[in-house]
Amino acid sequence: MNIQALNAEIRDLTADFIVLPLFSNNLNTRKFAVLDKLLQGILSSEIEEASFKGSAGEILVVSAGSGIKAKKIVLLGLGEKQKYSAEVLRQSAAGLFKGNKVADKIVFDLSEVVLGIGAERASKALSEAMLLAKYEFLKYKEKPALKKKDKETELILVLEEKKDLRPAEAGIKAGMLSSGATLYARDLVNEPASVCVPLHLAEHARNIAAESKGKVKVKIFGREESRAKGMNAFLAVAAGAEEEPYFIHLVYKGQKTSDKKIKRIALVGKGITFDSGGLQIKPGESMATMKLDMAGAAAVLGVFSRLAELAPKMEVHGIIAATENMPGPKAYKPGDIVRAMNGKTIEIGHTDAEGRVTLADALSYAVKLKPDFIIDLATLTGACMVALGEEICGLMSNSNKLAEKIKTSAKEAGEKIWELPLEDGYRQLIKGTHGDVKNSGGTRYGGAITAGLFLEEFVSGVPWAHLDIAGPAWAERETIPYMPLGGTGYGVRTLMEFLKKI
Ligand code: BES
Ligand code: ZN
Ligand code: ZN
Repeated sequence: MNIQALNAEIRDLTADFIVLPLFSNNLNTRKFAVLDKLLQGILSSEIEEASFKGSAGEILVVSAGSGIKAKKIVLLGLGEKQKYSAEVLRQSAAGLFKGNKVADKIVFDLSEVVLGIGAERASKALSEAMLLAKYEFLKYKEKPALKKKDKETELILVLEEKKDLRPAEAGIKAGMLSSGATLYARDLVNEPASVCVPLHLAEHARNIAAESKGKVKVKIFGREESRAKGMNAFLAVAAGAEEEPYFIHLVYKGQKTSDKKIKRIALVGKGITFDSGGLQIKPGESMATMKLDMAGAAAVLGVFSRLAELAPKMEVHGIIAATENMPGPKAYKPGDIVRAMNGKTIEIGHTDAEGRVTLADALSYAVKLKPDFIIDLATLTGACMVALGEEICGLMSNSNKLAEKIKTSAKEAGEKIWELPLEDGYRQLIKGTHGDVKNSGGTRYGGAITAGLFLEEFVSGVPWAHLDIAGPAWAERETIPYMPLGGTGYGVRTLMEFLKKI
């Protein structure tokens, strides 16, 4: 896929189609009038006939005739101007790109879409719409050749004003980076769990480092090294699995450009490559999608895959405790008590609440790096999906400032997030009888929050935010047009925004 910005007259451009986006309360724009005249009024009569209203995502295809060089004009509705945002544009355009299997060259007029959001945001949104909507996981399909054709699609963003060219180019670059990172994560999540074992994640981390021209370094610890570091919680979860667990630590160090100390941030991803539930095994239907349980790790790897190019001026650590959760003969058992790396003991109330047990060590490890903040992403609880549904991420944090920054980044990225309270009064629900903390509260109520409170026990007061992505990491049904079924790469775009801003 090739995306470019141009300062040109659309009537002079050859294309399979020209996209003319329009607001519902202003169909008769100057651009529209010019094109309509060139086409001898075909556009206005087709609008009449099809009663095109310009509502968000509405599409009307019109054959262009001989007045212009392009073959077809596509009128694309953007809805009401007052409700317009980069996300409206992303979704409306995604619907168009997704359905299109024929065009090799698309010219997209930006004169309306830059209004209110600017050329950079608009171009970023359109680049993301194209790449995210066209994504397919075809590796295991009989005819992967289809993919090749899409690669050749050209998208030309046409600007009225020369001064918008630079911002548009910056937007395209940012959009390509954030979607590239997102697709990296989607591929990892969609990969079957029998292929995407902990070693597979470790190999991806090694590969990212190898291709970073020295900008990303990686350390990987196997079972023995993890034991030597005191990661007994992580290893307890790994005990039931035949597959070797790996603890992955990636490091990126940005360039310092002033005397100011650069910030250090740790991104921690839950990396359960398959969650069977362990000895307290999940019923079949609940297990069906459990290859998704490494989506947090996939988001961290996705970000790292583009970190050298994003080049944020900060030090970023990526931490993943990768293992399966299996009911093998050595599996950890309900009632077990294990000591995490920070010295606290965890009483196992439920073997299916394994994510937080592995994260206890991953967070303890992160704290030792003395970061300014920690952000973890985890497909942690079904309870979060009960609370917020399948599309909204649950955010919990011990720092209002950090939480606000994440919410702002998520909004800009077009990812849905809602904050839940780390209610102190619920802490008693995770008190251990014989251990310091228990990995499952005595009740299902407030399960997302008690999981968050459990994690907080391992961050030693460092500003930290927890993103429970159990819902949005996976698209079970059709929702928005740029989310194909399966792994969504949720969190990557928010993190990329966040890193850019700090
Ligand atoms: N990986 C699951 C959470 C999950 C559920 C993610 C559905 C995505 C979709 C997690 O390890 C889990 O099993 N959590 C339990 C916790 C309970 C046993 C305390 C849950 O949510 O039921
Ligand atoms: Zn589980
Ligand atoms: Zn899990």
